Amino acid sequence: MSTYTLKAFDHCELYVSNAKQAAYYYRTAFGFLPIAYKGLETGSRDRVSYVMKQNKIRFVLTSPLEKNTAIGHHIDVHGDGVKDVSFTVDDAEAAWKETTRRGAESIAEPKMIEDDCGEVVIATIKTFGETNHTFVQRNNYDGVFLPGYKVYEEDIIADPTGLVHIDHLVGNQADGDMQTVCDFYEKVFGWHRFWSVDDKDINTEFSALRSIVMANNNEKIKMPINEPADGLKKSQIQEFLDYYETAGIQHIAMSTRDIVKTVTKMRANGVDFLPTPKSYYTDLTERIGEIDEDIETLANLGILVDKDENGYMLQIFTQPIQDRPTLFYEVIQRKGSQSFGKGNFKALFESIEREQAQRGNL
Ligand code: FE2
Repeated sequence: MSTYTLKAFDHCELYVSNAKQAAYYYRTAFGFLPIAYKGLETGSRDRVSYVMKQNKIRFVLTSPLEKNTAIGHHIDVHGDGVKDVSFTVDDAEAAWKETTRRGAESIAEPKMIEDDCGEVVIATIKTFGETNHTFVQRNNYDGVFLPGYKVYEEDIIADPTGLVHIDHLVGNQADGDMQTVCDFYEKVFGWHRFWSVDDKDINTEFSALRSIVMANNNEKIKMPINEPADGLKKSQIQEFLDYYETAGIQHIAMSTRDIVKTVTKMRANGVDFLPTPKSYYTDLTERIGEIDEDIETLANLGILVDKDENGYMLQIFTQPIQDRPTLFYEVIQRKGSQSFGKGNFKALFESIEREQAQRGNL
């Protein structure tokens, strides 16, 4: 048996149709700094990648540079989306050996890549849909990202919005697949069920979902796994599946230490958030108790609040960030609570359903 430690989310790679313009959106709207680049200028003939960073969050935006590529095919079928959720590990070969021994399908065997800054070992396995997990072992590397990338020259546009780390990252599954996918994370990675909700908790007049949050040992990596449940009309999870054409990453939650400041900045930058009905705030204090934030400020920004026995948390969701109603982002600030906003699902769903109806998909 090979032992290894999964430390944290390393980065997420997105396949997008125009990496240059996507990078501009992540810079100007989300406040990410481009830190590294590979493309024609660095000898990469078939693909271009921009590495975007804010505190501990790293996204790699990749586009093909020629026709008939696997990346181009992925974009054609799924639209822009998350291809790879990478984990930092202490031993990539051991991680690959152990997970494939336990039944994971290999995408790429362990290999060492190197440049002047040192060596990195990477290996990749498949998870749900067309999504992969790459293990990244950077014990002997002091470059800006990975071998093969050059440092991005100074950026004059990006102004950080206070996003700190990936709190969780959600995978949408087809109806009936949620338990199987959770079993996969349990069997292959040894993860545990951290939290769950069923369709009795999360349903509105029209749509419902079930969700189980899977977490690794140190609980730094949390991945809620969703599936649609039958409602009167089409679940938002089903709408995602219809447009992504398979299971995939629905949203990435990014933490902040000051959600009012972060969301104010992101709104000023032009980020569209899901609207929250004003009625949500009328009984908020009754529901949540006293909180540090001013309720009227939260109402103006559309920020949601939920609590559990350990404290409260504030959260808000963006609209999908591409024309297909697929990937979106969440901004979250935890003040003690480790919950996933059960109390907000209803308000949130009603908001999503209004948007879905406008798209003619409800
Ligand atoms: Fe979330």
